[in-house]
This record gives sequence, C-alpha cells and structure tokens, in this order.
Amino acid sequence: MTESDGPLVLGIETSCDETGVGVVRGTTRLLSNVVASQEDLHSEYGGVVPEIAARAHLERLNATAEKALAEAGVSLEEVDAVAVTAGPGLAGALVVGVAAAKALALAASKPVVAVNHLEGHIFAALLDYPEFTPPAVALIVSGGHTMLVHFEELGCYRLLGDTLDDAVGEAFDKVARLLGFGFPGGPEIDRAAGRGHASALDLPRPMRGEGFDFSMAGLKTAVVTALRNLHSSGERVRRDDVAASFQRAVVDVLVEKTVAAADSTGVPSVVVCGGVAANSELRQEMKRACEESGLQLYIPQPRLCVDNGAMIASAGAFRFEREGPDLLDFEANPSLLAPFDSDDLSAGPSGLGPAAASGALGGSALTGEGGSH
Ligand code: KG4
Ligand code: ZN
Repeated sequence: MTESDGPLVLGIETSCDETGVGVVRGTTRLLSNVVASQEDLHSEYGGVVPEIAARAHLERLNATAEKALAEAGVSLEEVDAVAVTAGPGLAGALVVGVAAAKALALAASKPVVAVNHLEGHIFAALLDYPEFTPPAVALIVSGGHTMLVHFEELGCYRLLGDTLDDAVGEAFDKVARLLGFGFPGGPEIDRAAGRGHASALDLPRPMRGEGFDFSMAGLKTAVVTALRNLHSSGERVRRDDVAASFQRAVVDVLVEKTVAAADSTGVPSVVVCGGVAANSELRQEMKRACEESGLQLYIPQPRLCVDNGAMIASAGAFRFEREGPDLLDFEANPSLLAPFDSDDLSAGPSGLGPAAASGALGGSALTGEGGSH
C-alpha cells in the first residue's frame, strides 16, 4: 500500500436484506461491488423477514466475497483490512456479517474495522465523486432512516433533522403495499409514478417550512383517507396516479428541506444517499433545485445508493486510516446510534425495521390500469 493510494479494504454489508461485499482502494477507488439481493425471498411476505434474511446472508456471503475479490482482481492476502457493518440493522442479519468479518480477519491475520451503516451510505458519494470535499448537507434517505446532517468534515457530522415517525423508504414500502405493488415498494412506486399524474390526489406536505424534521406517517394516512373518500363518493383513481401524487409530495418535502438546510448552514454542496436516493424524481428535482440555488449536488449512482459492501469498505478505509483497527471483541449492534453530534440523540436512529404495512385499504377506489401487478 502506498500512502497516496490508501488501504485496500474488503467491505461486508449484511444489515438488512442485501448481502453485499465490495473492494475499494482508499475511500474513493471502487474495485468491485457485488450484491446478492434477497428480494425474491421476501417478496411473498411483503417485507423483510429477519430470520430468512439472516439465513440467506449465511448461505450467500462466502460466494459473494469470493466474487468481489475476483472482480477486483485481488486476493484476501493482499487486503489491508476487512470492514463490516456493525449496525444499525436487523440483529440476526448483522451478526452474520460481523462473525464472517472476524473469521476472515482471524484466518488471514487481517485487521477488522467496525463501520456504522449510516456513515457507509454517506461515503458512497466519495466512490462516485472522488473530488468531493465537505462541508455539505447530507440527506440520508433509506428504509430505516430519514436524516438531514451537517457534514462538516470527513467523519464529523451534526444532526439537523430526523423523522418523527416512519422513514421515507418505509413510507414508500407501506404505500406500495397499500396499492398492491410488490416488495420492495420504492422502485415499484418510482416506475408507476412515471406513468401517472401527480395532481390526481391533493396530499399534504408534512412539516413543510417547520425546521428540518420530517413526518411521513401522516402522508401515508392521507393517501388512505383520500382513497376512502374517493371510494365513498363512487369515484375511481388510477393506481399510477396515486403513486405519482404520493411520490411528488415526498419529493417536494425532501427537496425543500435539504435546500433550506444548505441555506441555513451556508454550505456549498448537497449529498443525497441511501436507498431512496435511487428514486428518479428525487434525483431529478434535487438536481433542478440545487442548480437553481447554486449548490453542487453529489448523488451516487443508484447501485451505490442501495445497501452495498463498497460503501462500507470506503467508510472502513477512512476509519482504518484515522483510528486504526477495532478490537475483535466488538459486537453487532442493531440500534447503533449514528455517528452524529446532536443535542438529543435519544430519539435518533433505532435500527432498520422491516416495513410492516399497517392496515388494508378501506374499500377500493383504485383502478389497476397501468399497474405492474
Ligand atoms: O438503503 P437501503 O437499501 O436499505 C436501508 O438501509 O434501509 O434502502 C432501502 C429502501 C427501501 O425502502 C426501498 O423501497 C427504497 O430504499 N428504495 C426506493 C427506490 N429504490 C429503493 N424508494 C423510492 N424509489 C426508488 N427507486
Ligand atoms: Zn441502508
């Protein structure tokens, strides 16, 4: 390893339902990124089943790691450190990755680095934009989190806003289930919204103009109420139009608050990361709003937005260079707090829960035309 290159790091991600292994050189050079998705296993249950996720990680991790090393063209012996997601996430799923990382590290006499999943999402931006430097505002939007963070310098974050209830990805998945789409719902809503009319339902923009916190549960309820009202008045609405209306409401709030946060902190840049950052309308509208406000936008390509091992390797490279390896006695921590300074982290992240939809649709004012199911 040369100083300018940074360490060669293998990163393992098993916090939810993607078995991911990536190899990077330093924080910025992506050498491989292999993800074994478990969508097929969870779709029939409409959400992630923790026991199934843990077992599937166990079954797929070895082959995924071998493939990642082969695609990177390196051997385990050449790796400088093994990084792994220690939390937050599903307990049984995290344990598999952490145990595998420790076993690899022991077997090959490599140091191991515990990585916070949220910091991993942020570092995904460096893999696509090696030139990126903070300060920035980071919007982290995933199945478990919705956070606005003042990204002051690498490794130094201050929490500006959090969700008061559901995470954005969770809201996407719940509304998708309500509409009869498959799992995961986010990509399905994204596709359907592209065919629909966003003005079909008049939905609220929760907490608009009220600081940097978010509330997504009310929006889901507003969708249910709007559909009930349509049903009782005998009107019908296309499923694609509901998806488009919901997505527009979410995107409006995310974009407005992110630009306002950049404004209030005076930063020149915005980072958007996490699974929901793969959303096409969010990407497009955030780009438009940032251009309008003279902000530089860093939004990783979709495959680096969703859970993956390369982002964990990148954050691991940073932590390894700054702090050295972790002791082998660290444990998976499902409710690991974000590495963010804040006056109050007690209401902070509590792990990525499976998106359990609450309640069925009251009657059906929906028509299925244009839907994919
Ligand atoms: O970051 P991620 O892969 O896992 C967690 O850390 O939670 O995010 C998964 C979430 C899911 O809720 C999924 O529905 C959502 O990201 N998602 C999307 C899209 N792709 C994934 N949501 C909206 N539009 C998308 N294109
Ligand atoms: Zn994630």
